[in-house]
Amino acid sequence: MNKRIVQISAEEYVSIDELQEMDKQLIFAARKSSEKAYAPYSNFKVGAAVLLANNEIIEANNQENADFTDGLCAERVALFYAHSKYPDAAVLSIAVSAKNKDGLLRNPAKPCGSCRQVMVETEVRFKQPVRIILDGAENILIFEKAEMLLPFAFKPDSLG
Ligand code: THU
Repeated sequence: MNKRIVQISAEEYVSIDELQEMDKQLIFAARKSSEKAYAPYSNFKVGAAVLLANNEIIEANNQENADFTDGLCAERVALFYAHSKYPDAAVLSIAVSAKNKDGLLRNPAKPCGSCRQVMVETEVRFKQPVRIILDGAENILIFEKAEMLLPFAFKPDSLG
């Protein structure tokens, strides 16, 4: 028997001022986009900002539906839109910012499993790690790649 041990780490920042300029800009873009979310059922508004290797920034937000399961998270709306607009552009980073009725969350919301799966696919597709920047009023977390959030992921090579 062998043991496979996976180590997961994140950088933690207690203030947005500690971040490099581009990461700050992405968080501000994600916050701005969260304002435009369509989230009348959860009142949980999420914005995502994707930085592409071609220097474009794509902003998007969660889109809900009266048939609850038909909605989509901000991260996937942003990534799918980015890939549909620029199918050859690798994704360098994605920033995510969420607010409830009281405003920006104190601690960052962590992406759901389906969004993590899509982020991993993006990494495989473009052979480029995607940095994940999670915004919170009291702390900001940065993961160096999506696989940090989804170890032992199902990837194209899993299809055999
Ligand atoms: N949501 C996101 O957009 N991103 C996340 O990381 C977590 C959840 C959305 C889905 C739904 O519209 C609302 O937040 C409540 O779950």
